Amino acid sequence: MRFKQIVCRLAVMVVSLIFIAACDNQKSGNAETLTAVLEDKITTEALVAHAKELERISLSNSLSRSADSPGYIQSMEYIRGSLGSSGLKIWDQRFEYRLFLETKDPVLAMTYPVQEIYTWGTDYQTSTYSGIGDVTAEIVFVTPSLPPGVEPGTSTDGCESADFQGIDLTGKIAVIQRGTCSFSEKVSNVESRGAVAVLLFNEGQEGRTGIVSVVLSVDSTVKIPVIGVTYDLGKALYDRYVSGAATTLRIAVIGMNTTTSTYNLFAETVAGRSDQVIMIGAHLDSVIEGPGINDNGSGAVALLEVARQIGLNGYTPQNKIRFAWWGAEEVGLIGSSHYLDNLSPTDLRNISMYLNVDCIASHNFTRGVQDTDLSDTIEYPGTLYTETPNGSGAIEQVLLDYFYFQKLPIKSIPLDGGSDYMVFVKYGIPFGGLFTELDGTKTEAEVLLFGGTAGEPYDNCYHKACDTVDNMNTQVFTENTQAVAHLAQYFGDRKVSTLFDKTTTARALSRAVNAKKDTPVKAYQDRYHKDRRDRATR
Ligand code: PHE
Ligand code: ZN
Ligand code: ZN
Repeated sequence: MRFKQIVCRLAVMVVSLIFIAACDNQKSGNAETLTAVLEDKITTEALVAHAKELERISLSNSLSRSADSPGYIQSMEYIRGSLGSSGLKIWDQRFEYRLFLETKDPVLAMTYPVQEIYTWGTDYQTSTYSGIGDVTAEIVFVTPSLPPGVEPGTSTDGCESADFQGIDLTGKIAVIQRGTCSFSEKVSNVESRGAVAVLLFNEGQEGRTGIVSVVLSVDSTVKIPVIGVTYDLGKALYDRYVSGAATTLRIAVIGMNTTTSTYNLFAETVAGRSDQVIMIGAHLDSVIEGPGINDNGSGAVALLEVARQIGLNGYTPQNKIRFAWWGAEEVGLIGSSHYLDNLSPTDLRNISMYLNVDCIASHNFTRGVQDTDLSDTIEYPGTLYTETPNGSGAIEQVLLDYFYFQKLPIKSIPLDGGSDYMVFVKYGIPFGGLFTELDGTKTEAEVLLFGGTAGEPYDNCYHKACDTVDNMNTQVFTENTQAVAHLAQYFGDRKVSTLFDKTTTARALSRAVNAKKDTPVKAYQDRYHKDRRDRATR
């Protein structure tokens, strides 16, 4: 983004409307594009009605719409049914994936020198894709940083082979601190050295003291039980360990790895060039722990209503617009990976761009636009990329321009958390994204821009049972959906081939296609939810 635009954006963001006139000239070249009609058809009433349906579905299905549950299938049928008379082409895609099911309550207890039973949810949680077993063994520490380093993510405990010199892990339970390398690496390092289970404890800095909810990759081959615990429990065990007292724990994770299946759902316009497809996607599955109305009923409903209005208003774009409702995002971006991994090189090349819509109605929101050209956030410590597909900046700019003309402040969001857009990055497809933020804490400066409450999470029901319709901010939900409608129509009617430099894209694409066989899910799996406080891979 150019400097003047930054100044204008900051001006809008920081104080007032005084600067807007001065900024108008510069943008007037775009003005005709902003008289679009599709966004005017988006109403809060329709959006809330759809969201209530998804909530109702979760209420009759143990409060969840997770990909493996009947609540998911009913959500999909609700979307399909609502699009029934839209005139759009609709299809689904079934795929299989691995699911780890616990068949008994897990156990974490100290058996020697004192008996103590720890509490699931307070002290510990089983990791996603843990191994199975019931073991009682002595604990061993490797190279923890205690007290923890000043900077988060700096403990190298269990990352390097030198760490293990002189340490015998055979038949022992390894207790390892969260830090620089991924949980997968830490776990495989101790497993290959004979450990029978592993306890991963949080690193200990502010915001990194609760239970680490460890996400291992979906293709992980770990055989030993893996449990995430609080910093306090890790530290207490360490204090015993350094005092020389032998300590024995029992860890039991009983369950099975099964294969299950779920679906992606698609709808696309009949009209429009099929070699310049505009894709817009949102995951439709929730976590097991809740109904997932902000995450991501909001995105799923936004797409539904934009698609429905395209049909109802007989809008015939120049380029095909394809909507995707992804399955199994929450367990590792599985639906979007399945879709792109199985497209032919031609079909991949025919996708001009992708908009990701994941969490757009957070209660204590910021109006986030993902910084997909990295112009504002390349220095941000948690950012996942040093380069992104060419053309991403053009998509970001359309969103920024839209909000600018609506006189709505925005926040530039670093690419630091996992969602389906990552799979499009892998295939070199330009992308943009809307996001009202989740588990960070709202600042005073953000309250000046967006209202809400400082010092509180953007969404305090993130991945919880309380992520219901009441948890949504319906105004930002509506504004964001209108932005999606605007973008659909904007790119629907543009010659996208001149907007996106296909030479760069094509090069990135052929690299991805060539690499396809050896880099399945794993490459980005390890980074999935990398820096999130309550679900992380490292
Ligand atoms: N996909 C993440 C989740 O479902 C949240 C997220 C949304 C992360 C958008 C990054 C960008 O938990
Ligand atoms: Zn989620
Ligand atoms: Zn999500």
